[in-house]
Amino acid sequence: MTIKTGDKIPSVTLHTMTKEGPKPIASDDIFKGKKVVIFGLPGAFTPTCSAKHLPGFVKKAAALKKKGVDEVVCVSVNDPFVMGAWGKEQKTGAKVAMIADGDGNFARATGLELDLTGRGLGKRSQRFAMIVDKGVVESIDIDPPGTFEKTSAESILKKLG
Ligand code: BEZ
Repeated sequence: MTIKTGDKIPSVTLHTMTKEGPKPIASDDIFKGKKVVIFGLPGAFTPTCSAKHLPGFVKKAAALKKKGVDEVVCVSVNDPFVMGAWGKEQKTGAKVAMIADGDGNFARATGLELDLTGRGLGKRSQRFAMIVDKGVVESIDIDPPGTFEKTSAESILKKLG
């Protein structure tokens, strides 16, 4: 079942790239006591994700934070080396935290998995954006594969009022 408004974010282990290499990070630690905008997508370096989705959040990170968001998080079913390289290329810096869901733990536990088997990508994540307050989902939007509309940084900014 897909995660919905009012649900708690599941406790899973993710990874992040640091100067010392990949490090595990608990989802509980990402969301604890914070208002977080988390968006997910089918894959690092894929056309829509690289040209529109992630750059939109990098551009609007300050505006989101002005509206009370403590952290903007990008999650993808890619390994932490890829997520680190993508963050460098897109100059995410401290604006957007790049989180690797390499094992697909988050995508599966939230029901947001997207099966791209046969297209050479395997099991990935749907394109989604959630506003999460202290670990509880306030809103969730999903864009079907190949589309990009409801999950953009602009759409999430509008939701925040
Ligand atoms: C997408 O950005 O929607 C997408 C990327 C790769 C494969 C399928 C869909």
